[in-house]
Amino acid sequence: MTVEMREGYQGTGPGAITPDGCAVELYTRLPVGAEPDIIAGAVPAGAHILELGSGVGRMTHALLQRGFTVTAVDESAEMLAHVRGARTICGSIEKLDLDEKFDVVMLASFLVHAGDIEVRRGLLRTCARHVAEGGCVLIQREGEDYHTDIPRERVDPSGFTVRIASDEPVGDGVRSVRAEYVFPDAVWTQTFLSRPLTQEQFQQALAEAGLEVDACLTPDGTWVRAVATA
Ligand SMILES: C[S@@+](CC[C@H](N)C(=O)[O-])C[C@H]1O[C@@H](n2cnc3c(N)ncnc32)[C@H](O)[C@@H]1O
Repeated sequence: MTVEMREGYQGTGPGAITPDGCAVELYTRLPVGAEPDIIAGAVPAGAHILELGSGVGRMTHALLQRGFTVTAVDESAEMLAHVRGARTICGSIEKLDLDEKFDVVMLASFLVHAGDIEVRRGLLRTCARHVAEGGCVLIQREGEDYHTDIPRERVDPSGFTVRIASDEPVGDGVRSVRAEYVFPDAVWTQTFLSRPLTQEQFQQALAEAGLEVDACLTPDGTWVRAVATA
């Protein structure tokens, strides 16, 4: 199947690559970190979570194991083919309009930093449109030194190295970031656009969508919980 890459996004390495440059096989190999516990600590037990940009289900599966129900959304059918035990919906997050509300809507993986402001607006409107009254939206943001601590790398105990190799301005407040994932038998790269957001810009973007931060879930401020504005 031919997929159209988003402009400014690119991926290299074995197997299928999504329009935003993510490699499907890479995501089947990446271990899940602390995220499922952060999420579990911030939402009611057994909640129904709408996970936007689920990929292969790296977090989905860990959330299911913790007793949540998950509806997983992604524009890549190749990614969703790996999801087990959750309802899957293949399509663009921005255009998602289910006749349904969820206890929790989750927008992880820094998607809120989309290079294109209209895409970001669409993502946040989807969050707001699908959150139930009294529910919440969980958003993962970039950390403070995301664009300044360059290059940086981390050797994962499971045996691969992840490196943010470069991070260059490309105009209009947008940066082009190149990530490399080096395994003993394969190398993947992803180049993507990121629009850094100050705290004020982030809050403004949420406000435009009718959302506001109600809790910071991690000391580094990368995970926040938002609710609908009154
Ligand atoms: C970086 S991957 C992360 C996947 C998963 N959240 C994880 O942590 O393993 C981003 C995923 O979001 C999907 N995605 C990105 N932008 C999207 C959009 N606008 N609509 C639907 N899916 C999108 C990609 O296809 C990809 O599977």
